[in-house]
Amino acid sequence: MFQFGLMGYPVKYSLSPWIHEHFLKLASLTGTYQLYEINPNQQFDQAVNNLKKHLDGFNITVPYKETIIPHLDKLDQAAQYCQAVNTVSYTGDQWKGYNTDGIGYVRSLETEYPHLFSNDQKVLIIGAGGAARGIYFALATKGFTTIDLANRTISNAEQIAKNQQVQTQIHTLNHVLDVIDTYDLIIQTTSVGMKPNDKEAIIHLPKLKENAVVSDIVYQPIYTSFLKRAKELGAHLHFGHTMLLYQAVYAFEIWTGREIELKNLDIGLKNVLQGD
Ligand code: ATR
Repeated sequence: MFQFGLMGYPVKYSLSPWIHEHFLKLASLTGTYQLYEINPNQQFDQAVNNLKKHLDGFNITVPYKETIIPHLDKLDQAAQYCQAVNTVSYTGDQWKGYNTDGIGYVRSLETEYPHLFSNDQKVLIIGAGGAARGIYFALATKGFTTIDLANRTISNAEQIAKNQQVQTQIHTLNHVLDVIDTYDLIIQTTSVGMKPNDKEAIIHLPKLKENAVVSDIVYQPIYTSFLKRAKELGAHLHFGHTMLLYQAVYAFEIWTGREIELKNLDIGLKNVLQGD
């Protein structure tokens, strides 16, 4: 019987229990996935020790993705690079921290658009926060050699581009509009466009390269203003809820050793998000 959970604040509305309970069923395993809402005024050390005592593994979300690190024995490469952990697993004698967000994102992209991975494509990441960092790392690990960044604050993008064997040009959000039609893949990683501000878009796309894939990690709404505009320009779209699903697939694999075949779960998740 597996016991998993999610710690963070707030976590009340998390979809992770829905996702992992479906995974348990699909893998014919028994177990539970519970929410642990740890108020920032609570004793964090005590809360972590309690989870370690009772669970086989757990996810961490805001605001504890960095705070958890001193409580772990080792980190995987992605967590090391991002200095953020979203998944913790007991390896028999040690607690190991992982970051499954970027790798999960890249897996979801590869499932839908495998051609992007067969020859070197030119990529633009918009944003330079934690999500951008994870995706940058995962794409670099997969062998992408041109990954440009566009961000409001240039110094934040410079922090991501440091220490990598990747060619990266850094653009302002204005300047990138001039070269936007040179990219095969454009990934929007900021929270701009998320409900209730769903009329907003980080940039207004003026043009796109033919056959460009445009992706938005925002999944509420699933069909963001940014993606709607990309569709008008003829782009192929990649939706944010698939990242949510695939980072969980990877976490489940770490915990159980079982690879989930998703069947129609992405449609199920889309329906849950849309309130169908
Ligand atoms: P996460 O960890 O979820 O990626 P984050 O670290 O808060 O979130 O990152 C937010 C990213 O969205 C940053 O790149 C931020 O730009 P800055 O680096 O200039 O702060 C970007 N961002 C958020 N709100 C924005 C807005 N209204 N306009 C432009 N960029 C915005």
